[in-house]
This record gives sequence, structure tokens and C-alpha cells, in this order.
Amino acid sequence: MVKAVVMHAPGGPDVLKWEDVVVGDPGPGEARVRNTAVGLNFLDTAFRSGAIPLAKLPAILGWEAAGVVEAVGARVTAVSPGTRVAYHTPNGCYAEERLINADELIPLPAGITEDQGAAGILKGMTAQYLLRHSYKVKAGDTVLVHAAAGGVGLFLCQWAKHLGATVIGTVGSDDKAALATANGCDHAVVYTRDDFLPVVQDVTGGAGCDAVYECVGTQTIAQSWQCVRPQGTLASFGQASGPITPAQLAQQPTDRYFIRTTLQAYNATRDALLHNAQDFFAVVESGAVKVHVGQTFALKDAGKAHAALVGRQTTGSTVLRP
Ligand SMILES: NC(=O)c1ccc[n+]([C@@H]2O[C@H](COP(=O)([O-])OP(=O)(O)OC[C@H]3O[C@@H](n4cnc5c(N)ncnc54)[C@H](OP(=O)(O)O)[C@@H]3O)[C@@H](O)[C@H]2O)c1
Repeated sequence: MVKAVVMHAPGGPDVLKWEDVVVGDPGPGEARVRNTAVGLNFLDTAFRSGAIPLAKLPAILGWEAAGVVEAVGARVTAVSPGTRVAYHTPNGCYAEERLINADELIPLPAGITEDQGAAGILKGMTAQYLLRHSYKVKAGDTVLVHAAAGGVGLFLCQWAKHLGATVIGTVGSDDKAALATANGCDHAVVYTRDDFLPVVQDVTGGAGCDAVYECVGTQTIAQSWQCVRPQGTLASFGQASGPITPAQLAQQPTDRYFIRTTLQAYNATRDALLHNAQDFFAVVESGAVKVHVGQTFALKDAGKAHAALVGRQTTGSTVLRP
């Protein structure tokens, strides 16, 4: 028996309960992992609230974690007992221990801690695919990053800056503006108070950004369209304020690219997963990108962490401790 955060029905943060669960022995191709750090993601709050329905209840949430392999089943070659790993996977991470397909596990290099793995393997690799694939950022570009002091946001700001871009970021408070500025954001806009379009026009001399990384959704998309230069790219990867409506999608200027993406698509094969993870580990180990853990909670207090995240109280990544 181990403990896990279980939800039996969608609802507020108090539906997350600390309960006993049984974890069996790993079957063929599986590993049993003892999680030592669990990452919190905005996506988790959508599954918890029911905004995204779960296929089955009761359920254990959580898409990102790190820990140590305790046992492996038959035909597992990717890891062995004792291997330190990080992983991202659809749900099941809010647990002291769990079974998982071993091919989803990424061995951690000696220079990466388990906290860094849990805080960054999903959010850092999201920044990786957005900057490397959705729109390939190059030196001299100007990019707009929404929620720039958040989990993905701080990775995007630092990494885009490292690639030679000028970074404009939106944030919900002056404290968040200071944090984003300390992490690669050249121009932070408190968008709950000030419009960001005039700042983009000013910084780019009216040309617009090469790429807009859009994760806020319905509250920002109208201005975001106007922030993209002709033949630039708007990469939509989240909707923290609510989904973009069909009418808002129809406002897309006809001379700008729109791409809507998820990490799972970019890490669909084991080769891609390991390659992209290595890219992330390399920028962390070089010091170019720091993993900013803004706050930690006990895993059993996952509900409190959810309340803080939807209440816009968190900065950077949040680690839940089993
Ligand atoms: N497509 C993918 O593969 C992928 C992967 C990972 C994450 N994501 C998306 O990326 C975004 C960031 O994820 P994260 O886990 O790193 O979260 P996060 O950025 O740490 O937290 C979400 C942030 O969104 C901002 N926000 C704006 N409007 C909000 C509202 N109405 N309610 C709550 N927050 C609001 C808040 O920052 P301010 O106060 O500064 O506005 C808040 O801190 C999310 O939209 C998430 O779904 C997508």
C-alpha cells in the first residue's frame, strides 16, 4: 500500500483526497517508480475541475514527476532498479509510487536533480518544442511570451534570450514583472493593468513579433493576433483564461501562421523523447536556463497547490513532495 492523491468526482481543490492505493508488481515492459518529486501543471487543474473530462474515475492526476526505479518487469532495457528518472505522462503522477511503461522514463544525468526533473521535464520540454519547432527562434527575433513568470513562461523567457531573441513578456503583477525581467524578459508588461500591443509596437517599431507564444487564450487572443508580424507565427499552446472561441479564431489575419500544439505530439517516439530531453538537460547543465522552483507543497496538500495556481499566486514551477 502507498499513498496517492485520488479524486472521485470533478470539482474544487477539495476533491483531491490523500488515500491508500495498491501498486502491483511491474508487468512486461513496465517499471515501478518511487516518486521523489512531482510537478504541478495548469493542465492538472482542468482535469480536476472537469473542464477536461477524465475517461475514468476515481483518478490520480499529475503529468510530471521524477524519482527512482524500484523494480522492472520483463523485457525492460531502458532503465533498471536504482535508475534516477524523470517523465511526463497523461495523469497518474500524484502518488508515492506507481507503475509506468518503462519507455516513458528518461534517465536523469548526474548534473540534474530530481526536483529539477519534476519541475522541468514537461514544462521545460514544452518550451523546447515551442522554441525549436513551433517557431524556430533565431538571434535577432522578437517574441512575445504570455504568463512570462509562470512555469513554462520562465523557461521560454530564459531560453529565447539564450537563443538571441528580444523577449516581451506579459505578467499579472509587478512582482512577477521583476521575476520575469531577472530571467531573460527584456520588456515585462503587467497585462492586468496595461495593454501589451502598444509595447510590442514600440519595441518592434510597428513591425510586430516574429512569434507569439499564446497560452492565456480567450482574454488575450484578440491583441495577440495584432502582435504577430506578417508571416510571423502565433503558437497557441494553452488557455489559462478559457478557450479561444470560434469567432476569435476567425479573426486570424490572413497573412500570419497559426499553429496549435501539444508536447505529446513532439515526443511521440522514444528517440524524440530522449533527444528533446537531452536538449533541455544541456541548457540547464550549461547554466543558460535555470529551473525556478517558486514554491513547494506536500503532495498530500495538492489541493492547496491547485488553489494557488488557479489563483495566480504561484511563480515558476511548483514541486509537490511525496
Ligand atoms: N500544449 C502543451 O503541450 C502544454 C504543456 C504545458 C503547459 N501548457 C500550457 O501552458 C500554460 C502554462 O502552464 P503552467 O503549468 O506553466 O502554468 P503557469 O504559467 O505557471 O500558471 C498559469 C498562469 O497563467 C496566467 N493566467 C492568465 N489568466 C489566468 C486565469 N484566468 N486564471 C489563472 N491563470 C491565469 C497566470 O499568470 P499571470 O498572473 O502572470 O497572468 C498564471 O500564473 C497553461 O496554459 C498550460 O495549459 C501547454
